[in-house]
Amino acid sequence: MAGITDGNFCLKLAPYGFDMVTLGGYNADKPTMEAGCSIIQRGRQEFDIDEENLLSSIKKEANILKTSWKGTVSVNLRSVSFEPIVEVSKLHEIDVVEINAHCRQPEITDIGCGQALLYDTKKLYNFTKNVVKRAESKVSVKIRANVRNVNDIEVSKAIEKAGADYLHVDAMKPGYNHADYNIIRTIKENTEIFLIGNNSIHDLKSARDMLSAGADGISIARATLKGSVPFDLSQV
Ligand SMILES: Cc1cc2nc3c(=O)[nH]c(=O)nc-3n(C[C@H](O)[C@H](O)[C@H](O)COP(=O)(O)O)c2cc1C
Repeated sequence: MAGITDGNFCLKLAPYGFDMVTLGGYNADKPTMEAGCSIIQRGRQEFDIDEENLLSSIKKEANILKTSWKGTVSVNLRSVSFEPIVEVSKLHEIDVVEINAHCRQPEITDIGCGQALLYDTKKLYNFTKNVVKRAESKVSVKIRANVRNVNDIEVSKAIEKAGADYLHVDAMKPGYNHADYNIIRTIKENTEIFLIGNNSIHDLKSARDMLSAGADGISIARATLKGSVPFDLSQV
């Protein structure tokens, strides 16, 4: 969660039983950093780090985790070009770089980044492939499901074909306060990629429902905002 999930935040949560935590999202190139500044100006939280300091800043946050925790450290990145994501993947503290094809803030989508990548499957495929080919870490792609005029299966297949290691799906179901388990089921039926199911997981039932739908793993965002997990992850 932008502006929130830094090293110390993730370190507090790690002992609850997570095997992966995600830092960021960070804006990784000049256009997304400028977009981030505009987002801050209208009152939303962001990590405001300039290009020169981005790598050292991510390294520092990842080190906070790596010095006392053995799990996987991922970092969620918004970028118009793929190169900055590859650079982050070269940090030896980073195990996974996550391409953000999820952000719907207009300042980000207006520059063809975040959720805008979902509208152009070929561009998303090429972007992902370019990262996969050069990355020195594993690669995840985070998408939002049920975006109007987006074919989730086509998008998921493109990400798989591009060679990503993880597909992280915010199974948002507009108008509902629970995830769209059907879309997780359908993606699972149509791909073999490691599928991380996300959205509205806040108790054992929602976590189990996500796994029953076919997710290989779950991720939790808002339910961790108080720095704890409101249910026993080991029981899932
Ligand atoms: C304040 C806030 C900031 C977020 N920032 C990011 C982000 O930077 N990158 C991203 O991929 N998702 C971001 N998300 C989305 C969450 O990671 C997650 O996909 C979404 O909230 C649904 O999951 P949840 O129901 O567990 O919260 C953010 C969500 C919130 C509430």
